[in-house]
Amino acid sequence: MNAVTELQYMTGFGNEFASEAIPGTLPEGRNSPQRVAHGLYAEQISGTAFTAPRAQNRRSWLYRIRPASVHGSFAPFAQPRFHNDFGNGPVTPEQLRWDPLPLPEASADFIEGLYTVAGNGSAAAQAGVGVHLYAADRDMAGRYFYDADGELLLVPQQGRLRIATELGVIEVEPQQVALVPRGIRFRVELPDGAGRGYVLENFGAHMRLPDLGPIGSNGLANPRDFQAPVAAYEDLEGDFELVAKFQGHLWRAPIDHSPLDVVGWHGNHVPWRYDLRRFNTIGSISYDHPDPSIFTVLTSPSDTPGTANMDFVIFPPRWLVAQDTFRPPWFHRNVASEFMGLVHGAYDAKADGFVPGGCSLHNCMSGHGPDAATFEKASSADLSQPDVISGTMAFMFETRAVLRPTAQAIDAPHRQRGYLQCWTGLRKHFSPPA
Ligand SMILES: [Fe+2]
Repeated sequence: MNAVTELQYMTGFGNEFASEAIPGTLPEGRNSPQRVAHGLYAEQISGTAFTAPRAQNRRSWLYRIRPASVHGSFAPFAQPRFHNDFGNGPVTPEQLRWDPLPLPEASADFIEGLYTVAGNGSAAAQAGVGVHLYAADRDMAGRYFYDADGELLLVPQQGRLRIATELGVIEVEPQQVALVPRGIRFRVELPDGAGRGYVLENFGAHMRLPDLGPIGSNGLANPRDFQAPVAAYEDLEGDFELVAKFQGHLWRAPIDHSPLDVVGWHGNHVPWRYDLRRFNTIGSISYDHPDPSIFTVLTSPSDTPGTANMDFVIFPPRWLVAQDTFRPPWFHRNVASEFMGLVHGAYDAKADGFVPGGCSLHNCMSGHGPDAATFEKASSADLSQPDVISGTMAFMFETRAVLRPTAQAIDAPHRQRGYLQCWTGLRKHFSPPA
């Protein structure tokens, strides 16, 4: 167990932040002076092309004890459960659902505990996502990780994560999420012991806040609720390991010092955390349920306007007041593909079977919606009273391309092979006039 320390954060999304753990570290009026203060090295990390439009451009300047290039040779790292091998063969259109990923039988740190469920695209194509789970019970000790293939959105479901990054430390609990940008090195600790959750690996354009259109200048996830860490460095030497995810697989290199040795930094390619309970949920106050895009927290746009590489969507506590309306999510089919998880409580479209830590996959044009029990209940509910949905936090990774489940996910003992039966109880009610 780790001592819990009070961490500091800076607020805002996509800001130009600046932070230094030792006063006077950051150069003034330039990025790369002839000699950096305190004998540090200057190094830039670019998260977008140098020439990306200013509004999308992401880069940070790091002032560090040693440059990132100082480490030994890379060799393959065998962790066969975590990869981007989504396959090219047939993919089932069947609706799929899983129980929670079991906690590790043998001790596992965050990297050893990663488990790939599905994905599409690739790092090489610079489009698509990897959908992963993790179940771990041990801190990463003497091991540091970076993902060159994409940014990582961490969604803990059980236990807190303490994420020590090059730019500082962030801590998240269930119902909070954290983002580690592409390439940023980090180490994950588990202050509560065993932990479990979801990880979205985004190969496409970095996630950003959606435009709000007629909603106006406030609402959904508000920028000031995103929190970036302050600079914190480790001056450690030892027999350590740097693990890289590169083009779909893991590599390891010896490193004789902690790469979390950044004493000061400035820029906008930064990790952050966000509390999903701060989401300003907007819905109907007349009739019908809007499309679930109203619940978008973050979006990774594709090259086609309005058609996202990936949307991160949540289903938080909210009031349902619509009149003459079937209040739960409606039956539907979608050109996009939907991976859902549940962080907390129950989801209002399913009476049972979808439990915290579990997940479901409804791919392109596969029908889905409330189960039979939910349909019967909602079809006869008293709509003169509002309903409040409380104590819940479900989410969805919705992608433009089909999410291809991995072989291990299809074969997993924790896959619910009877999932389709949740809809078989939907009886025929058709009664045409005589
Ligand atoms: Fe759906």
